[in-house]
Amino acid sequence: MKMVNRPLDVRTFMVGRFSRLVVALTVRMPRWFVGWVSRRYVAGKRIEDAVKVMRRLSAEGACFTIDVLGEEISNMEEANFFLEEYKRVISAITENNFDAALSIKPTAFGILLDREAGMKNIESIVSLAKQNNMFVRLDMEDHRVTDDTIQVMLEMHENGLENVGVVLQGRLFRSISDIDYITKKLGPNADYRICKGIYLEPSDISHTERKPIVDATNECIDAMLDAGAYVAVASHDYPVIEHTLEALKKRGMGPNIQDPRKNSGPERPHKGPGYEFQMLLGVRGPMRRKLTASGHRTRVYIPYGEKWYEYSIRRLQENPTIGTQVFKAFVMPWTNRP
Ligand code: FDA
Repeated sequence: MKMVNRPLDVRTFMVGRFSRLVVALTVRMPRWFVGWVSRRYVAGKRIEDAVKVMRRLSAEGACFTIDVLGEEISNMEEANFFLEEYKRVISAITENNFDAALSIKPTAFGILLDREAGMKNIESIVSLAKQNNMFVRLDMEDHRVTDDTIQVMLEMHENGLENVGVVLQGRLFRSISDIDYITKKLGPNADYRICKGIYLEPSDISHTERKPIVDATNECIDAMLDAGAYVAVASHDYPVIEHTLEALKKRGMGPNIQDPRKNSGPERPHKGPGYEFQMLLGVRGPMRRKLTASGHRTRVYIPYGEKWYEYSIRRLQENPTIGTQVFKAFVMPWTNRP
């Protein structure tokens, strides 16, 4: 049985210049308009807004990972904001008994400014999360921080903080060897999110066309599953989700089946049987609900924060193909309901 029905793919009609045009127009629009566009993708400004969204989506059987908006900081004091806000997030999750993890961006904690201080900041959040039985995902940013992000995660494991995992980006050539490297260090304790990668990286280090990006992402999924790692597949794309479902079937994995892989890691609290699906708030809700209804664990990535405007604009400018997706969400809402 096919898990996903493909709607008519209009991608070929709406790429390139058109997408750039949508982005160029959107970023010139008043703040309220950008806010209106991003309303479905951002929970709001405050943790209370994210709590409301989690209450609503909990009823749909989803679990969550929470992202406080904001990225690279320009001085170490700015990291204090993220430290305090993530503490609030941990309290809110615990008080409301939500099934939720944290997603953090290493550059927001100062990893590029002062590695040691940045590492300490991250460690304090991972440690507090551990005391509260919570998992922390280090989001993967652009290629300047790939090495540091992986190393920070490995150092945390060495320091006894195993409630942390990293993201790898299918588009980067290096990701497949990063899986080998991390497997050698952590074995089946490795816990990945795998995505295509939002940052448009140069062609000497990454795939730049759609098909090779999809193929490379699928190759990473296979390699992670074969390594016995926990695999969170973060994609809304049919060829990636269909490939994952096939890959799971081949390995005897699936909903309500204890992870059958001989090399699989320990059972993890608040996790699926060796894998889960992850999607962004507001994107392809029907597909997410279908996966949940079939018993797959599905996690919604919930961004919130005062920096919603900067986040929305930067994301649009960094990767103008999002323009197509925003447009498509408006003219073909049935393909992309929240
Ligand atoms: P694709 O871009 O082909 O999207 C498939 C369809 O999904 C589109 O046609 C559209 O309908 C819909 N869609 C996808 N994204 C949308 C959007 N933003 N708005 C509206 N519609 C959208 N990247 C990264 O570099 N580092 C990271 O840490 C993460 N973390 C992360 C977490 C989670 C939970 C997700 C889902 C994604 C990420 N990403 C990420 C982003 C990821 O790398 C990728 O850029 C996006 O998920 C889009 O790629 P898809 O695989 O969804 O395919």
